[in-house]
Amino acid sequence: MYNSELLNKLKNIQTPFYYYNIDVLRGTLEAAISASSKYGYHIHYAIKANANPRILNIIQGYGFGADCVSGNEVSKAVEHSFDNSKIAFAGVGKTDFEINTAIDANIHAFHVESVHELEVINELAEAKDKVVNVAFRLNPNVDAKTHAYITTGLNENKFGINPWELEDLVERCSDFKNLKLIGIHFHIGSQITDMTVFEELAIKVNSLMDWFEDKGIELPYINLGGGLGVDYENPANKIPDFDAYFKAIYDNLKTRENQEIHFELGRSLVGTCGDLISKVLYIKNGLKKNFVIADAGMTDLLRPALYKSVHVVENLTSTLENVVYDVVGPVCESSDVFAKDLSLPKTQRGDLLCIRTTGAYGQVMSSNYNLRDFAKAYYSDEVYEYQEETILA
Ligand code: LLP
Repeated sequence: MYNSELLNKLKNIQTPFYYYNIDVLRGTLEAAISASSKYGYHIHYAIKANANPRILNIIQGYGFGADCVSGNEVSKAVEHSFDNSKIAFAGVGKTDFEINTAIDANIHAFHVESVHELEVINELAEAKDKVVNVAFRLNPNVDAKTHAYITTGLNENKFGINPWELEDLVERCSDFKNLKLIGIHFHIGSQITDMTVFEELAIKVNSLMDWFEDKGIELPYINLGGGLGVDYENPANKIPDFDAYFKAIYDNLKTRENQEIHFELGRSLVGTCGDLISKVLYIKNGLKKNFVIADAGMTDLLRPALYKSVHVVENLTSTLENVVYDVVGPVCESSDVFAKDLSLPKTQRGDLLCIRTTGAYGQVMSSNYNLRDFAKAYYSDEVYEYQEETILA
C-alpha cells in the first residue's frame, strides 16, 4: 500500500498525521452493507469511533444511521445530514441539555440506561409537549471476552438496566405519558472476535423478548449494539468478517414479524482504513534497551497506553538489517509506548513509521496534553491536492 510513489508524497508532510485510505473505507462499508442486507438488518454508525468530517460524510452517503453517545454527537450527525429518523442516542449520563438537543432533533430513539433517566426524559418531553421513542438498554450479563475497559455487558458494569428492574419499570411505563417504548437495546463490549459471544447475546435477547411478549408488550425495534472486532495483528486483513457476525446473530435470534433488527458498528467500519504516520526524532541506545523516539505519542493515539493494545508498527523507509527496539513517543509519561521489543529494520532519524489500524478510536481520542498539537488527517483520494500546500519549508 505504501509504495514508493506514495511515500515520496507523504514524506514531505508535517508529521505526525493520520492517513485514511478511502478505498479501504468504501470497501469495508460496502462489505458491511452486503452482509447485513441479506437479512434486512439496519446499521447505525457509532460516531464515537471516528468523527472526522470526511469520514462521516462518506458513511452518511451510504445511508447508514448514526449511533450517538453525547448531545454533540447528535448535533454532528444532524450537521452531516444523517437521517434524523435513523439517529439513536445512548449513554449513562445524558444531561438535560443533551436530551433537549435530541428531542428537538426528532431522533429515532433514546436508549435509556436507568429508571431515573426515564423520569427525566419524560419530564423534558412533557415540557415540549412531545412524545419521544425510547428503547431500554438492558444489561444481559454476557461476557464479551475482550479487554476489561471495553466490556460493558456484565453485572458489574455501569451500563444498562438490569433485567430484575424490568418488572417494576414496565409497570411504571403507563406513568410516562410522553414516552413511547419501542424496543430494547444491548451493547456488551468492543473488539469482540469470538462469534460465540454474539450467539450467546442473541440467545439472551430471545429470552428477554419472550418476557416482553408474555406481558403483551410489542417491541418493533431491537438493537444489538456494536462490538465486532478488527484484525490488529494482520493489518493486511482489511475487511472484518461481517458475514460470520451477522450469521451468528441470524442463526440464533428469534426475530418476530414486524421487528426491525439494528446494529451500531464503530470499529469494524473504520478501524482498518486509518494509519498514524510518524517521523523518527531520535535513536537512544540504553543499557537494556534501544529506543526509537517517534514524534507521535499517546496524545495522538491513546490506545496502547490505555489498554495496552497492539498496533503493528512498521518502518516504511528503512531496508537495513533488523534491530530490536522499544518504540516510544515524546510525551512525559512512561506509558507513552507504542511497541516493546519490536524487531524493526535499523532505524534512523527521519525515517517514517506507520502505526497500523488506527482508524477507530485513534484520532477521536487525541488530546493536547503537554500542549501538543493535534495531528492532522490526510486522505488517499486527496493526495495530489494536499501535496503542494503542505510541503514543509
Ligand atoms: N454502541 C454503544 C452504545 C457503544 O458504547 C459503542 C462503543 C458502540 C456501539 C460501538 O462499538 P464498536 O462497534 O466500535 O465496538 N475506546 C475503546 C473502545 C470503546 C468503545 C465504546 N463504545 C478502544 O479504543 O478500544
